[in-house]
Amino acid sequence: MKNIVILISGRGSNMEAVVRALEAEQWPARIAAVISNKADAKGLEFAQSRGIPTAVVPSKEFASRAEFDAALQETIDRYAPDLVVLAGFMRILTAPFVEHYAGRMLNIHPSLLPLFPGLHTHQQALDAGVLEHGATVHIVTAELDHGPAIAQARVPVLPSDTPDDLAARVLVEEHKLYPYAVRLFVEDRVVVDGDSVRLLDRAPAAEATS
Ligand code: GRF
Repeated sequence: MKNIVILISGRGSNMEAVVRALEAEQWPARIAAVISNKADAKGLEFAQSRGIPTAVVPSKEFASRAEFDAALQETIDRYAPDLVVLAGFMRILTAPFVEHYAGRMLNIHPSLLPLFPGLHTHQQALDAGVLEHGATVHIVTAELDHGPAIAQARVPVLPSDTPDDLAARVLVEEHKLYPYAVRLFVEDRVVVDGDSVRLLDRAPAAEATS
């Protein structure tokens, strides 16, 4: 049974999609905690309604990134996570924090990385005139939005699209993509080797017996 800790900052719809998939598909995993850096994050209510432990580490009360990350790490580690899932967690993380969870921390970014890292991805996509946009789940490394990708989903960009239209179309795909990628991890099908990732067709145990 793997322990998953999910970090959110707001709405938490990706967290909700992962929780629902875990419950519906009965993964060998539990959401050990949902942790937010904001006390008013909407997603906390959903987690509580599912009986998931929640915690708040309020980023605005810390003088430095290093102090916040240290407090966050201490809170996360109380739940002994096998996997840390960033789901709309709007913080830039320090290198020691990222290193502590090396190979076991995932993020979802609403673009086809390496295109459009950082903020305002949908506006960036429209400005660039691309015909396709999407979302990427990747392993978190020290460089923002640059870790090795595990999965991507694509959507068309339509001539009339506003950034909000595009965000809504991408979000529908995110809600399928993130549960899929987290499940790969839960099934030990993601092999991380430094800066590269290999995906196994089946769980290692299934491979050994077939
Ligand atoms: C998602 O688009 C995610 O890709 C990005 O921030 C948004 C968070 O939405 N990092 P939610 O909080 O999961 O609803």
